[in-house]
Amino acid sequence: MTLATTGDLMRRAAAGGRGILAFNFVTVEHVEAIVAGAEASRSPVVLQLSQNAVAYHGGRARPVTAAALVLAEAAAVEVALHLDHVEDMDLLRQAADAGFSSAMFDAGTLPYEDNVAATRAAVVWAHGAGLWLEAELGHVGGKPGAPASAHAAGVRTDPAEASEYAARTGVDALAVAVGSSHAMTTRSASLDHGLIARLRAAVPVPLVLHGSSGLPDTELRRAVQSGIVKLNVGTALSVAFTGAVRACLERDAAMVDPRRYLAAARDAMAGTVRQLTAAVDEAAMDEDG
Ligand code: G3H
Ligand code: ZN
Repeated sequence: MTLATTGDLMRRAAAGGRGILAFNFVTVEHVEAIVAGAEASRSPVVLQLSQNAVAYHGGRARPVTAAALVLAEAAAVEVALHLDHVEDMDLLRQAADAGFSSAMFDAGTLPYEDNVAATRAAVVWAHGAGLWLEAELGHVGGKPGAPASAHAAGVRTDPAEASEYAARTGVDALAVAVGSSHAMTTRSASLDHGLIARLRAAVPVPLVLHGSSGLPDTELRRAVQSGIVKLNVGTALSVAFTGAVRACLERDAAMVDPRRYLAAARDAMAGTVRQLTAAVDEAAMDEDG
């Protein structure tokens, strides 16, 4: 299977009324698990590396991305690579050469006019480099600098403002604040599906949901049916990874070979990916049926 681009996967998903899951990776084990889980449910998938994960790797995006590219090229399903939550233009400028087909430029904490100007400049640069560019309007909570609550006044994306924002910036996809929040370790959030439908009607580009770890399967499926195309998941993999490692080490306090507990972590993450991709794929089946 050849490497896919995020733009192609999203265009096709949008046309077919389907959702596409995008999983954040940190280590090579994450990539192996994401590919294995997507293969098990025969779903295309986006592998995404955040600016924070690049910082974890000492500011170097290329080593772990090179491994992700090789694994993506060998996958039995279509896999695209996306650079996530980029605030640093210098990092964005490395994206195409490192092998990413898309990036999310995150000016979400800036005042509206500054967000428009910074995102427009990022779009112009990205399109010149052949990259598909996602940006965010509104505030998905749970990240430093953003409001803590997904329900605080003024945090949700306004459809009229989103329409103007998309036209002025020329973004290819828009991340919206509709009730989800980053870094949730329980699946207890609920979305404003009426707002998603109004945003879909107002905005000509595909909509993206951040903080999807906090949503139960039913909400993920309804999100797709309401008009979300790309669903970002990170924390659910951390929960699976860390839970498996903790269980291994609690079972055997003398265990020192990392291959043993990392294999358990990888299997747990693959199970999460398989379960979530299958759940989201059912959204399209529900609609067809
Ligand atoms: O961009 C990444 C996502 O929004 C991940 O959010 O870690 O809450 O699933 P999450
Ligand atoms: Zn996010």
